Amino acid sequence: MARAPSQSRPSTDKAKAYAEVAAEIAAVVEGEDNLIARMATVAALLAASFDAYFWTGFYLVDRDRPDQLVIGPYQGTLGCLRIDFGRGVCGAAAKSGRTQVVADVHAFPGHIACDSRSNSEIVVPVFGPDGALIAVLDVDSMALGAFDAVDAAGLEAIVAQVFGGGAPGGEPTS
Ligand code: SME
Repeated sequence: MARAPSQSRPSTDKAKAYAEVAAEIAAVVEGEDNLIARMATVAALLAASFDAYFWTGFYLVDRDRPDQLVIGPYQGTLGCLRIDFGRGVCGAAAKSGRTQVVADVHAFPGHIACDSRSNSEIVVPVFGPDGALIAVLDVDSMALGAFDAVDAAGLEAIVAQVFGGGAPGGEPTS
């Protein structure tokens, strides 16, 4: 049976779906410490789990240009290659270190329209085990208002588990 889009799921179902995909991700990446392999797994399994996701992927802090994000593993249509810190939703998450939930991206100052079909977005900062920002996880939807606090908590728990050394299903980082 087709899964309902995440924005129409009851919150408890959506929270359960995040817990399930978190367990799947943990099982696949166990013993794999390569960052790109871990990011590719997160992007693929999240994109396959939620029908409301239109673009799912990572922008990494560029070691050579630490004020810029550069495209990482993703699922979806062509993404922008680089984003300056502070620019658009991803840049705001990177600069502030806080999750951004944007119900209507067209109303967000400086939003970068990589694909004009994207209407709402959530961006979660990704911190490494030492607490330094290493990337942001960006999820876009064609629906307006697709993301809420349940998505934020679910995605924060996944990035803490996979990149921060936190326990599966651990507390969100923010
Ligand atoms: N919309 C994003 C840019 C990245 S893409 O959507 C893939 C933003 O404003 O940060």
